[in-house]
Amino acid sequence: MATPYDILCARFQDAFDLLEKGADPVVRTSDRSDYQVNGVMSVAKRLGRPPREVAEEILRSVNIADVATVDVAGPGFLNVTLTTEFLSAQVHQLLADPRMGARRSTTARRVVIDYSAPNVAKEMHVGHLRSTVIGDALRRMYEFHGDVVIARNHIGDWGTPFGMLIEHLCDLGEESALASLSMGDLNSFYREARIKFDGDDAFKDRSRTRVVALQGGDEETRRLWQLLVDQSVEYFSQVYGTLDVLLTADEAVGESYYNDMLHAVVEDLDTAGLLVESNGAQCVFPPGFVNREGEPFPLIVKKSDEGFGYAATDLAAVRDRVAHVHADEILYVVGAPQSQHLEMVYATARLAGWLPATVRCEHVAFGNVLGTDRKMFKTRSGDTVKLSDLVSEAVDRADAQLVERATPLDEAERRALAVTIARAAIKYADLSTERQRDYVFDLDRMLAFEGDTGPYLCYAHARIRSIFRRLDAPWTAPETLAVTDAAARHLLLGIVNFPEAVSESLALLAPHRLCTYLFDLAQRFTSFYESCPVLSAEEPLRSERLALCELTARTLAVGLHLLGIDAPERM
Ligand code: ARG
Repeated sequence: MATPYDILCARFQDAFDLLEKGADPVVRTSDRSDYQVNGVMSVAKRLGRPPREVAEEILRSVNIADVATVDVAGPGFLNVTLTTEFLSAQVHQLLADPRMGARRSTTARRVVIDYSAPNVAKEMHVGHLRSTVIGDALRRMYEFHGDVVIARNHIGDWGTPFGMLIEHLCDLGEESALASLSMGDLNSFYREARIKFDGDDAFKDRSRTRVVALQGGDEETRRLWQLLVDQSVEYFSQVYGTLDVLLTADEAVGESYYNDMLHAVVEDLDTAGLLVESNGAQCVFPPGFVNREGEPFPLIVKKSDEGFGYAATDLAAVRDRVAHVHADEILYVVGAPQSQHLEMVYATARLAGWLPATVRCEHVAFGNVLGTDRKMFKTRSGDTVKLSDLVSEAVDRADAQLVERATPLDEAERRALAVTIARAAIKYADLSTERQRDYVFDLDRMLAFEGDTGPYLCYAHARIRSIFRRLDAPWTAPETLAVTDAAARHLLLGIVNFPEAVSESLALLAPHRLCTYLFDLAQRFTSFYESCPVLSAEEPLRSERLALCELTARTLAVGLHLLGIDAPERM
């Protein structure tokens, strides 16, 4: 179904076209009326005519009586007020539509989303949290839109550290090594290996031999390596499970997956005349990239020690994603510091002809997570904070809040709700920040039931659902709604704009737009509920108000779901 906004745009477009073909009517939501058409002034300027005269002319020609009334305001704005009949029809359509008016695209694009990407045998940290949460929200939005998402969890599962990690595994004995890894004790495992590597020459030698064996495909070494990878993936999956993230173990297509493609990458770059030797390394110098001194900056494809690097792997990945995954779009949800690297990878892939201009390749960059001291978020001892610890702490605190609020739930239900609230708190705090900006990880603020938080939105949903639990008889929306009350109208206008909020978030790859929309909707509901009693109202007003409650709750639930947040029935 076309949204009111779509309909207004189309109707005014026809009227504007009569004056000047293709002129943008600039339809916006407005505080002065339901919508405002702001494009008159620019057209009048171009035509050299008085704006009010142009506005009057559009008013006469626009075919809109079945949808809205329009008046000219100020120097030439058009204020648009939807008719009661049209709004009533919207309510009925939305009640019958689980997508809350959002259209499903008929041209499914294939979208690769590279997100999460933690490193094997290393703790997931808050940087991975951002990638995971943002990537997962984008995935849900794309899928909702009707596209096909191919998730790529580009885990760091290859490289020289695996020599020492495998040797350390052998020293500990497979069984006890795996036990400590499965408990998520990844950092100490890595640290112990590192300490031995730095202090014990014999261990260092063994580690180096191991790297050679690993690269050479030695069977036993590969088996040990696979154990490390599997154990880590298993651990990551647990974290994804607690966070309700869609990533599966099958989607862990790590750096090692591209090993066999690296030779061809280098050879083909060479054949294309793109390879340059610099300080013994094989490099590409894509034009436009310079270092601080303003000198051309290399993308190192093969290091002087003959090893392939991170860049070669990313080049192979782009190539694979276009040639074999058939991506129309590739998104990299990776921290802002890797921007130069990724831009150089895309530029090189374009030069090499692996990334056609028709394939959109975009770095979905994000800022840092800071501690309450506004410095990089670390533990007191300077370690990275374990993601799984953060999540359990959030769950415990959410549970304590529920106990304090004397929420009438049994123990198991309460624990489950605490998990939902903790996820909502963590995800929403991350997603509601404009992604390029840094944010402070502050569980107290994130878990608050008031303010622009995940728990507040969950609560807004549960509160509406509780109204329906108090009903003694079924209700049906009246044929025509009066929507005479200003707060009711304001709420309904918020509801009908849901599809625009979703498409804007998607177009800008900006989940925070959807967050802002949902928070605004919840606030519109609060004002409505304060000024319009629902259950005590007379019919048909009561049913009309119930319809608005129902639509609000459903819009909140669908919207939160797109962010990866569950909307609880009770709270
Ligand atoms: N594993 C990397 C890290 O932890 C992120 C990888 C991002 N994805 C990519 N294709 N480079 O920083």
